[in-house]
Amino acid sequence: MTDFQHPERKILLNPGPATTTDSVKWSQVVPDICPREQEFQQVMADIRTELVKIAGGDAARYAAVLFGGSGTAAMEAAVSSTLPTDGKLMILINGAYGQRLAKIARAYQIDYIEYQVDWGRPIDWSTVKSLLSEDDQITHLAMVHHETTTGILNPLEPFCQVAREFKLVTMVDTISSYAGYPLDLTQTPVDLLMSTSNKCLQGMAGVAFIIASLELLQEIRRYPPRNLYLDLARQFAYQEQTGQTRFTPPVQTIYALRQAIAELNEEGLEQRWQRYASNYRILIEGLERMGFRLLLDDQVEHSRILATIFEPDDPNYNFNRLHDYLYNRGYTIYPGKVSELNTFRLSILGALQAGDINDFLQTLAAAVRDLEIKIVYDNAD
Ligand SMILES: Cc1ncc(COP(=O)(O)O)c(C=O)c1O
Repeated sequence: MTDFQHPERKILLNPGPATTTDSVKWSQVVPDICPREQEFQQVMADIRTELVKIAGGDAARYAAVLFGGSGTAAMEAAVSSTLPTDGKLMILINGAYGQRLAKIARAYQIDYIEYQVDWGRPIDWSTVKSLLSEDDQITHLAMVHHETTTGILNPLEPFCQVAREFKLVTMVDTISSYAGYPLDLTQTPVDLLMSTSNKCLQGMAGVAFIIASLELLQEIRRYPPRNLYLDLARQFAYQEQTGQTRFTPPVQTIYALRQAIAELNEEGLEQRWQRYASNYRILIEGLERMGFRLLLDDQVEHSRILATIFEPDDPNYNFNRLHDYLYNRGYTIYPGKVSELNTFRLSILGALQAGDINDFLQTLAAAVRDLEIKIVYDNAD
């Protein structure tokens, strides 16, 4: 039987939903409450204020808007709500989540163009500029900050610079970087960020949120809605007027988010970034010692949150066998997402300490030994 009081600790090395603390898990056990009550509205108001702060946003310029849903709900709310009927979006793509932004634009028949580079390769800003100079219809620019497909980090500075030069509205998917990687809206004033409760915030899955400038949130009220549930303008207006979401929120998940934010504040934002960077380094050094090869080299700007690892060219290697061996010992690893390459992924996002990463590396070494895997590559130099 499940021991509800002492849930077994699992080490999740998939890039979210993350390993959470017991206190975040337990914070969901609250007296039943109707979300229309003032007491609950206060919980949401506090969370919305904190979410803006975590992104370095000024409350006089930015607001957070909550939705029940996964990260993709935030992406869909952003893309479907912010383009006027005569607007045109440019999407910078170097992974599957950039492609998802494009998929959403297509689903809503939004006019868009994409600039795509190979997955895991950096965006070439001079090409972005020349594409923009060729098309003066473009009004909006979107990209993914940490492309969880590979671990590449698409920097916000050149993104904001280009957008400023061409006077574009900016949208960034910070779903797997928000609270885990330095982000400061005063330095890189993106108009809209998308994120979720269950990645670097270390809360439970189920809350999608957007942080947007008040200017943008006012502007989009004039646009005809493309959907009902994910209508950012109306959700914002309703939250401002009533303190509530328009539709039933994930009540207990919101309590968990409140606790996760309290734990982030206790840890300190910079300390969290440092813990992630340090856990990542321990992981990478351990993997390299064992002979594993990584997709991204040191030349590429990196999130230090997720590594994409080449699978060894040994017939004894099989992702599912390795996964099951590790899973049975409390560690979850994750398949790769770059279709033409054989890779798997490991992420350190979540309530993990250095000891967890070292223990994982020992268990991985045991797996390699017990499953008789040779960490060799056919194209060895
Ligand atoms: C960068 C990024 N964007 C979007 C998503 C989609 O989030 P969800 O699976 O919660 O819908 C993910 C999920 O891993 C992600 O890493």
